[in-house]
Amino acid sequence: MARTPASRIQRVQPPATLAAGEKARQLARQGHDVIDLGQSSPHHVTPSHIIEAGIDALNRGLTNISSSRGLPELRKAMAEKLATHNSRTIDPDGEILATPGSKMGLYDAISAYIERGDEVLVIEPTWVSFSQQVEMAEGNPVAVPLSEEEEYYITYDQLKEYVTPQSKMIIINNPNNPTGRVYTLEELEAVARVAREHDLLVVCDETYEYFTYDGNSHLTVATLEGMAERTLTSYTFTKAYSMAGWRLGCIVAQGDLLEPLLKIQEQTASFVSPFVQMAGVAALQGPQDHLAQWREDCNELRIRCADRLYQVPGVHCPLPDGATFLFPRYSADMTSAELAELLVEREGVVVTPGAGFGESGEGHFRIALMRSPADRVLEGVERIARVLETL
Ligand SMILES: Cc1ncc(COP(=O)(O)O)c(C=O)c1O
Repeated sequence: MARTPASRIQRVQPPATLAAGEKARQLARQGHDVIDLGQSSPHHVTPSHIIEAGIDALNRGLTNISSSRGLPELRKAMAEKLATHNSRTIDPDGEILATPGSKMGLYDAISAYIERGDEVLVIEPTWVSFSQQVEMAEGNPVAVPLSEEEEYYITYDQLKEYVTPQSKMIIINNPNNPTGRVYTLEELEAVARVAREHDLLVVCDETYEYFTYDGNSHLTVATLEGMAERTLTSYTFTKAYSMAGWRLGCIVAQGDLLEPLLKIQEQTASFVSPFVQMAGVAALQGPQDHLAQWREDCNELRIRCADRLYQVPGVHCPLPDGATFLFPRYSADMTSAELAELLVEREGVVVTPGAGFGESGEGHFRIALMRSPADRVLEGVERIARVLETL
């Protein structure tokens, strides 16, 4: 029947994180005392110098058609950030593509290179959208489940076990959402070795690059030997600058790797609103003090919340090395969706069920540390602990 959606779209699951956020907003509208620990974007208003730059661009008339690659000012600022922060020399003219949110850039990358039957290794637990975007490209996502007992460590042998002649791409998220792992050089070398040996592309999502703790440092896999020519790296303004509502991301890759992505953008979104891009320039070039503060707030919250959950029998809550979440495991005999439901019903706390991050996420739930102000996060964790103590 003409109204039947395409089968590749029928297979797609809605993101668990968006469902959690929707639930929080709906309950709050009904007047409930809701604590939102569901979605990952910071609760902060975008820093004022960034907002001012957006308004200034609007007043200067940047309200019309723009370049599909992104404004030269933004690509130049991004190339400077990549040189200073990521040790990469990137040509702003052909090796950076600005996209309306990094989710769109990731979609462009996956659909530009994946076709029916291609396999994509997705390291799990994993952010909600990678596997679904592979499904939308008619590829087959292949979960590489990392073990919590091994602290979600990536090894060469484990990754290699999942490679077949159909493998075309590996997707990693560093630091990882939801586990908070910041991959070591040894782990990234393992990814690089598998990619080189089997001629695979790597998509690396570096959304949480600025959120690392305890001296862990974030490394960009594209800087390893033989990786620049096979890696597409995704960045967003959503977390570090609290710009989720502006929709701004950049995808970076060397040589002509980005050209097929540009084709998709030209035929779909066309370009990112130019005033949003100018706000992005201000974000990259302006003061970064807020970021140190947010990181420190998150660092403190991660310790205090994990300490509280540690006291709950049956709960295991490792301290994450990075990102902005806790990903505790619980022992109660219920699914993570049931637990999330119970937390909302009994205490008005919204979390994301672990099953939303792949099968290996079942038995866990994710707490977003930046979605609400610190006192509310602490209160939310106290309420969660109260419920778990009764199970
Ligand atoms: C790992 C990861 N990648 C990408 C995104 C999407 O961010 P954007 O707002 O740039 O689309 C998110 C947002 O939650 C994320 O956690």
